[in-house]
Amino acid sequence: MTLISPSILAVENASLTDATKWAAEGGADWIHLDVMDGHFVPNLTYGPPVIKLCREVTDIPFDAHLMVTNPDDLIPELLGIGCEYITVHQEACVHLHRTLSHIRDGGAKAGVALNPATPVELLVDILPMLDLIVIMAVNPGFAYQKHIPETVQKVARLSEMTSRIEWPGHIQVDGGINVETIGAMVVAGTDVLVAGGGVFKRRTKGQQGYKDDYSEHVRMNIYDLKVACQVAIEEGVDPYK
Ligand code: DX5
Ligand code: ZN
Repeated sequence: MTLISPSILAVENASLTDATKWAAEGGADWIHLDVMDGHFVPNLTYGPPVIKLCREVTDIPFDAHLMVTNPDDLIPELLGIGCEYITVHQEACVHLHRTLSHIRDGGAKAGVALNPATPVELLVDILPMLDLIVIMAVNPGFAYQKHIPETVQKVARLSEMTSRIEWPGHIQVDGGINVETIGAMVVAGTDVLVAGGGVFKRRTKGQQGYKDDYSEHVRMNIYDLKVACQVAIEEGVDPYK
């Protein structure tokens, strides 16, 4: 099954809890929460207090993506809030094995994210410690960036590597996912798609199905992404095209 994890980074700060609610009620499978420290990435977002508020509006799984230099400092608080998946960046962790153990020992699922320049082969010895691998299809920091197409081949390589050991985790792609880019990613082996702009972009007046209520745009965008996944699976898309 292909899952959609909307990233609420794509809405203005005042709407973070509303966006969580709209996405959850609009058919999202998970909610993706981008924590940035203005150091590991050139942007500063929100942290545990805001995630706690979002946690109050839905029970669907929370997928926290930590783009911070010291992820170990945040893990205990995120575990306390009830984030089902906690993802750290390989590039930020000197002792990745230890960090992943903290996440799992705390009862959450452990994820690792790779920047566009980091090869998937670096994960070969840590696969059994992972529940989720996040392939960044943009340089982390902002929503609404352009998707890096070479990422499709990276996912295909990862998928080949994980199938050799029948690894049971999820492969997620984060960055620039929309109805045009999602199909190749799914065919290449992704089963969780993060989408910021792809879920929270406003439809323009006059566009098919336009409604005044913004939450309806979110619902329609999620629906369109799911349809695009289905079409790609049924009709096949050349993942290398
Ligand atoms: C980027 C974040 C993403 C971002 C995705 O650094 O990790 O989760 O919000 O947004 P889109 O889908 O618009 O690229
Ligand atoms: Zn993210």
